[in-house]
Amino acid sequence: MLHKKLKPFPEKFFWGASTSAYQVEGANLEDGKGPSCQDVKELPPGTADLKTCADHYHHYKEDVALMAEMGFKSYRFSIAWTRILPKGDGEVNPKGIEFYNNLINECLKYNITPIVTMFHFDMPAELDKRGSWSNRDSVDWFVNFAKVLFENFGDRVKYWLTINEQNMLTLVGPLIGTMILPKDCKNVTKEVYQQNHHMLVAQAKAMVLCHKMIPDAKIGPAPNIAYVYPASCKPEDVLAAQNYNAIRNWFYLDLAVKGIYNNLLWAYLEEHDATPTFAEGDAEILKNAHPDFIGFNYYTTSTAEASNSWDDEISPGADQQTARGEAGFYKGFRNPNLTQTEFGWEIDPPGFRVTMRELYDRYHLPLLVTENGLGAYDKLEGDKIHDNYRIKYLQEHIKQIQLAITDGVEMLGYNPWSAIDLVSTHEGIRKRYGLIYVDTTDEAVGSLKRYRKDSFYWYKKVIASNGADLSD
Ligand code: BG6
Repeated sequence: MLHKKLKPFPEKFFWGASTSAYQVEGANLEDGKGPSCQDVKELPPGTADLKTCADHYHHYKEDVALMAEMGFKSYRFSIAWTRILPKGDGEVNPKGIEFYNNLINECLKYNITPIVTMFHFDMPAELDKRGSWSNRDSVDWFVNFAKVLFENFGDRVKYWLTINEQNMLTLVGPLIGTMILPKDCKNVTKEVYQQNHHMLVAQAKAMVLCHKMIPDAKIGPAPNIAYVYPASCKPEDVLAAQNYNAIRNWFYLDLAVKGIYNNLLWAYLEEHDATPTFAEGDAEILKNAHPDFIGFNYYTTSTAEASNSWDDEISPGADQQTARGEAGFYKGFRNPNLTQTEFGWEIDPPGFRVTMRELYDRYHLPLLVTENGLGAYDKLEGDKIHDNYRIKYLQEHIKQIQLAITDGVEMLGYNPWSAIDLVSTHEGIRKRYGLIYVDTTDEAVGSLKRYRKDSFYWYKKVIASNGADLSD
């Protein structure tokens, strides 16, 4: 749809950016913090370890001041479970509470609204030893953690996100270092979807608890949503795209919002003898939880073509944004209409609008963009970083938000990835996303000095004009 006149961004729009604890904080075993799965995993070759990252733990004041300088209205960060509960349950670590109290208060000092992710890829290592999400007790572990968070921070944190990219944990868990399976596991698909079921029940209970403990707070999920296009207008390709949309996207949100298993996903699980076991009361728990909004991460769309044989060869090289496929359901397909980033992710700004329209049409909840951004090899030249490619990427995506708003989609905010440079899930700190450059490399910890990238100044102008001035 073409619009003659664009609607403005809402007055109270959360312009900000995102990070996650294990990727940005460093100090990974300091001040009583216990190890998470990220601290004990084997690192992808050549990538920075997680001891220092951007050292946000020690630089948070400087970092929040820089965010304030850009005019941030929100800062989306995650709380490391093992900083609060070093073993995942049991004793609370007062130093962990103190750190996040300080961070939250620092944000509030500048009128930056903290948007807190409760779980971002960092399962406590001690809980992994006890069976991780395969153990039914994981529901109670998570709800207990949620209770500690709401008790300690609920007076000031009014926007909560439950589990970051639960769909990616399920689809590409090993790649991001998070998938622990029992040794004798015979049916991996069944185990993975049982874990996923536990996460969904845990999320539902956390949402109900949040509403009970902090009645003026809002809470929502934060999956990675990438609308799936058919590779062509062949009906078989359209069916394949529906399959992948169900498996990748709608399944998670149908459960979070409506408390029901998506029928296509269920049919897929039946084919694999992999339907999850429901404990008594699960169906009700899932139905009783109601998110206030949908947080979602968007980097690009996906494309699928038909897979008409159980013997189809499926490419295994999948990460969050590279569709692989499921024999008999769909095959991933490179979209020839899109360009790619230096790291091979397709770039699709109009697909962002497609995704927002579809999300709103399906769920009728306000949308909060919790991630979007461009990973690139930035270069420090003197004290400058000329990241015009990032400006272009963000510019094009923000334009699509305004178009979606004009289409009638309710948008709460935009929090691109990432506020400052941090360590990528599997490609090191050389894959930079930040608006703020951090002087450090995968090979050695640097001065950790912060530099304002060109995108920093540009985003500042965007925020000051409430999105009216996107020019570079
Ligand atoms: C999302 C995650 O998948 O994308 C982040 O929520 C991640 O944790 C981001 O860093 C970018 O992905 P990557 O693999 O480039 O770090």
